[in-house]
Amino acid sequence: MTAAADLLTVTDLRKTFDVSPPWVTRVATGQGRQVLRAVDGVSFAIPQGGTLSVVGESGCGKTTVARCVAGLTPPSGGEIRFRGAVVDAGQGGVPSWRKDIQMIFQDPYGSLNPRWRVGRIVGDPIVGLGLGHSRAEVKERVAALLSDVGLSPADADKFPHEFSGGQRQRIAVARALASAPSLVVCDEPTSALDVSVQAQILNLMRDLQDEHGLTYLFISHNLAVVDFVSDRVAVMYLGRIVEIADRDAIFDRPAHPYTRILIRSAPDLVEIGARRAPMQGEVPNPIAPPSGCTFHPRCPLATERCRTEAPALRPFEAGQVACHRPGEAL
Ligand SMILES: Nc1ncnc2c1ncn2[C@@H]1O[C@H](COP(=O)(O)OP(=O)(O)O)[C@@H](O)[C@H]1O
Ligand code: SF4
Ligand SMILES: [Mg+2]
Repeated sequence: MTAAADLLTVTDLRKTFDVSPPWVTRVATGQGRQVLRAVDGVSFAIPQGGTLSVVGESGCGKTTVARCVAGLTPPSGGEIRFRGAVVDAGQGGVPSWRKDIQMIFQDPYGSLNPRWRVGRIVGDPIVGLGLGHSRAEVKERVAALLSDVGLSPADADKFPHEFSGGQRQRIAVARALASAPSLVVCDEPTSALDVSVQAQILNLMRDLQDEHGLTYLFISHNLAVVDFVSDRVAVMYLGRIVEIADRDAIFDRPAHPYTRILIRSAPDLVEIGARRAPMQGEVPNPIAPPSGCTFHPRCPLATERCRTEAPALRPFEAGQVACHRPGEAL
């Protein structure tokens, strides 16, 4: 795939949060400022119509990547380009990418305004971005969107609390599609739903991708979901991508020890009776990450070199891996 075909390119994305204690505490205790590197040099590209998933344990920076790409959080460094134009959360007015990039959030309860009827929730981006020329046109577009996501046009008159979790996520999908975006950033869109409902929403999202030619940046901690939706997978650990490759390569021939242990410990992927190896230890505190390879305290292959030298992300077989011992048996 050539760079010209990429809809989104993210280069060396960084996001730090100042998590210092209050000034008074710092003066009293002599503590310095504390900076948390939530995203620490992440690069990837997504071709038009493709799905890149970002997977990793809680706290590794997935949501922060999603929010930066959707223009909701300003990055601390690096660059995000959409169709060649820089995505900048601080840009005034309505930048050209605004209607083209939409986001679906994990929580179908918290992400919909409980006081608005569904028609207003779904129609709001159409009105806000000046995409409907009359009330009738907006109403017609909302009805079409609700049908697209498997709801009824009559649902426009109801409030969010009248729907189940899965139906609410359908409303969120309809709202995301209201501006006819090209890129949809999905942050754990099915994680709060029952397993049976998850499958319905994932199937809907795949159908909509085909119908509308959508490109997805898909965030999930669930490998079964990632296996289902992805073309390409980026595995994150403590703010960095440790492995990125096509979906089949990640699942059939994972090369980074973290990816291999994640896959082995995923309850939905391992056949019944097969050896399960749970992930050992906890994700370290990102304010004071381990030296060298930040995975070394949990890695069965760690050597002295791993404790001192951070591995760069380098080509390995069909993908890229940040490890001094890629592909070695655990
Ligand atoms: N607004 C914030 N202020 C301070 N720290 C934050 C903020 N948002 C996220 N973080 C921290 O950044 C890290 C990555 O968080 P997040 O992107 O939410 O990870 P994930 O989605 O993979 O669980 C975590 O350590 C989290 O506590
Ligand atoms: S660099 Fe070393 S510690 Fe890090 S994942 Fe590879 S083998 Fe394990
Ligand atoms: Mg998250």
